[in-house]
Amino acid sequence: MSDIFLMPKYIISGENALSESMEHIKNFGKKALIVTDETMVKIGTVEKLETQLNENQIDYFVYDGINGEPIDEMVDVGKRLYLENKCDFLIAIGGGSPIDVMKAIGAMLTNEGKIVNYNGKVIPNPPPTLVAIPTTAGTGSEATKFTIITDSMNNIKMLLVGPGLIPTLSIIDPEFTLTVPPAITAATGVDALTHAIESFTSRKAQPMSDIFAISAIKRIYNHLLDAYEDGSNYNSRKEMALAALEAGIAFSNASVTIVHGMSRPIGALFGIPHGLSNAILLKDCLEFIKDGAIKEFAFLAKELELVYDEVEDGEAADIFVKSIIDLINKLNIQTLEEYGVDKKEFFANLDKMATDALASGSPENTQRIPTKEDIIEIYKKLWKEEKVACRL
Ligand SMILES: NC(=O)c1ccc[n+]([C@@H]2O[C@H](COP(=O)([O-])OP(=O)(O)OC[C@H]3O[C@@H](n4cnc5c(N)ncnc54)[C@H](O)[C@@H]3O)[C@@H](O)[C@H]2O)c1
Ligand SMILES: [Fe+2]
Repeated sequence: MSDIFLMPKYIISGENALSESMEHIKNFGKKALIVTDETMVKIGTVEKLETQLNENQIDYFVYDGINGEPIDEMVDVGKRLYLENKCDFLIAIGGGSPIDVMKAIGAMLTNEGKIVNYNGKVIPNPPPTLVAIPTTAGTGSEATKFTIITDSMNNIKMLLVGPGLIPTLSIIDPEFTLTVPPAITAATGVDALTHAIESFTSRKAQPMSDIFAISAIKRIYNHLLDAYEDGSNYNSRKEMALAALEAGIAFSNASVTIVHGMSRPIGALFGIPHGLSNAILLKDCLEFIKDGAIKEFAFLAKELELVYDEVEDGEAADIFVKSIIDLINKLNIQTLEEYGVDKKEFFANLDKMATDALASGSPENTQRIPTKEDIIEIYKKLWKEEKVACRL
């Protein structure tokens, strides 16, 4: 069977990426709907984009309503604003949330009905031109064919898919990530790491996605801690921005597996940000994945130069898992308890969360396919006493 590999048509990355993208953006339309959040406006990030658009005589309307992770209502508002303001293409500037809402708005401009109607289906018609400018180094949404939107009626984080959702142009300007606070740097960085590890070990991995996944894992392993400890370190920010992009390209083509499958229900029910819920799950999920992915983890241990080539696979795989866990421990990721999740409520929802995780389809891409009981067991492990103790 052959493999199909998709990625954005244009990726412009590095210093001055935004200003040098303008010659392409000029050709995309006359008026952009800018999809963003209030923080991006407040810290002056949107103004930098506006300045560039003004200099290039491109008109725009700013929709800064993506405050929190995407829900279906934000898509309806964005669609209305696009039509009322006679826009003809879209630009998202911000983290994965504004980028995902932009994609869903675009999809609803060219497809019938509401975004919730597309859960579990491929969105058929391509949206108007999409431009993504990520300001976190995490989701990789700037390069993926996915958008994740919460169905507010049913409290489900829908994973929606369509090849047309891949932005035409992705602008990777590391300067925008310099302002990300440490806790968000950590959580979004672990999100990118999760994308890369999951795509490399996915049953849907292919040679092209492996190239991007391996490169992303190396960059993240070597630079995430530096970006977390010193947010003004341009080089580590640049490496992380590239890594998040690579990881996005990888999982857009190879899918994610158990971690993301289990992460979305936690996000939908307890409002935990996507990067954080992945980071909370990654350690226990890696232990679970390992039994089905000894060869892959051993390979990664060797790529990261954690072991000599002669070390046998079982031992190398253990060292890979331990090294990733050590890295995560240094990032002071909050526990569920610290985030304020009520343990009783969490346990009362175990069955729904496991059902929703399996229904998303992601867990079945794992080399070791989890049962519902396995998933419940991992959710329970997140509350082990020693977890809190080992962080003190
Ligand atoms: N489409 C995909 O392929 C895909 C993949 C993974 C995750 N996601 C989705 O992406 C969303 C999460 O995105 P995210 O983790 O980037 O977070 P986010 O976009 O929700 O942003 C998190 C917070 O960081 C702030 N922020 C962003 N950039 C900043 C900057 N440069 N300086 C200061 N503050 C900044 C935002 O204002 C916000 O308060 C979730 O909804 C998740 O489901 C999508
Ligand atoms: Fe993710």
